[in-house]
Parts: sequence; C-alpha cells; structure tokens
Amino acid sequence: MATVSEIAPDLFRISTFVPDFNLQFNQFLVRDAEPLLFHTGPRGMFAAVRDAVATVLDPRTVRWIGFSHVEADECGSLPEWQALAPQSTAVCSLVGKLVSVDDCMATRPALGMQDGEVLITGKYRFRFLHTPHVPHCWEAGLLFEETQRTLLCSDLFHQAGDVEASTQADVLGRCRQVLVEYQQGPLANYMPYSTLTDPTLQRLAALQPKTLATMHGSAFVGDGARALRDLAVVLKEVLGPKS
Ligand SMILES: [Fe+2]
Ligand SMILES: [Fe+2]
Repeated sequence: MATVSEIAPDLFRISTFVPDFNLQFNQFLVRDAEPLLFHTGPRGMFAAVRDAVATVLDPRTVRWIGFSHVEADECGSLPEWQALAPQSTAVCSLVGKLVSVDDCMATRPALGMQDGEVLITGKYRFRFLHTPHVPHCWEAGLLFEETQRTLLCSDLFHQAGDVEASTQADVLGRCRQVLVEYQQGPLANYMPYSTLTDPTLQRLAALQPKTLATMHGSAFVGDGARALRDLAVVLKEVLGPKS
C-alpha cells in the first residue's frame, strides 16, 4: 500500500516501504498540464504506484516518465506505464536513450536530454542535468524544477527505514549510516567515488534547491545547497580514496 503526500505545490511523493529491505521506494508525480512521473518504481510495484497516481490524476494522462538511470526502481515498469498512458514519453539522458532505453526499455522513442536542456510541462520547468556516475551509472541525470527549486535527486540522500515524507531536519546522519552499512555487506560500492563526484555535487549545490526529493527516505526541505555540500563531504569520507 503506497502513501501519497504533497511535499511541495503539485509535487506528490508516492512511497512504499519494503520491510525486507528496511527501505522506502519513492516516486514523484508532478501535477501539471502535462503530468510528469519521476521514477516508475520496480515492476512488482506497478499496480500500487498506478493506484496511488489515480488518487491525484488519471494515470492514463501521464505525459512524461522521467528517471535518472537504468535500474529497476528507476524505470522497471516503464513498459507497463507506456501501455497504460498512450501519450507518455520516457525522459532520460541522451546517453541513456542511445545506449539502453530505446533498445530495451521504452516502447516509443525516449526524449534524450542533453545537459542544460529544459522540459516545460505547463506551469513547471525542468532543467536536465547530466550527472555521469552521480549517484551511479554512465547515463545518470537529474531534473531540477526551477519554479519551486525542487531537485529530483534519485539515490542521493538515500536513507533507511520507514521515515517521514519530508523533513527540515538534517538527513546527512541517516545517509551516512546507510553508506557505512552497505560498505560492510553485499551492497558495497553502491555509489562510485570518482573525479566527477565532488564537482557534480558542487554544481548541484549552486542551484540552491529548496526541496531535495530522494528516492529512498525523507525529502529534505531547507538549505539544499548546504545539504549537497555536506553530502560531498560524507561521500568523500565513506567512499573516497583512503590515504
Ligand atoms: Fe540507483
Ligand atoms: Fe534507487
């Protein structure tokens, strides 16, 4: 059973907690002239996510289906969504489109965005940021909604547990704990630490987001620039090269 919360104007967080993983899987629905869903969730959650979307708007009217990178929780039910919503188009990086999405994920050609391009859905404007290997995967990208200053940040700020929909409290402690715990088990090296990590996070900080909408855990509302700079420190400490 998914929980739906409006965490910013017209921005709905759809959240399902999976006890076996001690983890929430969140999708974000933006209500606009051309509705946008960011993350489909895994295939096994398709019916639950569809029913949650239906509490806000007709799922068949979803126009854009965005995601950061190719992974089940990002875009696993893209084919099911495209069958349900006949006008829907996948939105990803140009790399994602050329390398994977058009071949084996999307049922219609995806919109492959280049860094800095803008998608306007009506009232809202989404700037695409190509962020290779942040949080992970070559094709990774993020969307920044400029009117409300919301960063749809995928796996960045990953937190465990069945936590609140949004918070103004610092989430870096929870985030650090997950990264440390994952390093000790089969999910180690979840995110690479590369020459791109710190410059990418500093670039995201310069956008000065007000809401950080993460796939796993609570959305953070507040000084997003500071949170991103703090995240850069945590990633370097936990995942960076050891001297
Ligand atoms: Fe991921
Ligand atoms: Fe994820």
